Amino acid sequence: MNPQKNQTGLISFFLKNGLRSPFLLITELERRVSAQLLGIPAGFVEQIRGIIIRKYCSLFSNISKDLRERGERIRRDGIQLLGNVVPIDMVNLILSLFNDKIITQDPRIKTISVFGHKVYEGIQFKAGDKELQIMQQVMTPELITAFTAASNGGFEVLSYSIWRNYSLPEGYSSDVYSNRWHTDGARTDEFKIFIFLDDISPDHGGTIIADRHQTREACKAGYRSEKTYGNSQSFLENIEKAGSISGSAGYSYIFNPNTCLHRAGVPKPSLVRTVLMIIAIPAKKIILVPKPASKIRKWLQLIPHAIGHNDPLSA
Ligand SMILES: [Fe+2]
Repeated sequence: MNPQKNQTGLISFFLKNGLRSPFLLITELERRVSAQLLGIPAGFVEQIRGIIIRKYCSLFSNISKDLRERGERIRRDGIQLLGNVVPIDMVNLILSLFNDKIITQDPRIKTISVFGHKVYEGIQFKAGDKELQIMQQVMTPELITAFTAASNGGFEVLSYSIWRNYSLPEGYSSDVYSNRWHTDGARTDEFKIFIFLDDISPDHGGTIIADRHQTREACKAGYRSEKTYGNSQSFLENIEKAGSISGSAGYSYIFNPNTCLHRAGVPKPSLVRTVLMIIAIPAKKIILVPKPASKIRKWLQLIPHAIGHNDPLSA
């Protein structure tokens, strides 16, 4: 280890992240400790918040027994394949919207290049964006059901993102577009749905996800962060060899990015991978069915992050 290099790295880290640096360092430390102790590379505060919200939602949830059991399976495994649940005309509509944003050089398009070659281009739509009316059409009943099950009730969409990955230079192993194993580090009651906008074969990179069991095994073997795989390297390589998630345009899956290790697959030269990602968390507002019949039930409605169908982006 070169202390000079480490010191320079730390200084540049502080210069880059400014006042946020101490918090980022604490968060990083917290995640490493949690990975070691619990096999979950997510912060303790995020985990506690996730547990409380989950327990609260399960107490008051009015979803069916089948949906509740499905939610338990999704949360236990961390991932569930949904299949081709988005019609191809909807996929094409969203793909043409994305291509249009690139052609017209929308200022919200983010691009990443390596050695002068574009390897990533993407855009995120949030509340207030005019494109949301089009994006919301992608929320088929199957996707709504999957989010409802995972959230144990109502959910709230945080964003819709579309991006395209290109191949990386031969032998390039640095993190560019989440191509190293990681967890997102945010709240553990958050779920993501990915929808392929192209036909994705393993040669297109697919998406590589370790389920909850495999994530715990990787942490047990020494995984600590995207930079520190420890002795989990060969275990993670075996997951990669077993195959990435692939499917035709419209293929979808739901997973928990904060409890499951995952990484972006890298397309082979001349191939690309275009995906749509929807992020959702349990709904902020409670809507009890039947309506409040007592003061306590009325009071419960004021507690944030409970069940209900307050879904400003997908309603
Ligand atoms: Fe991620």
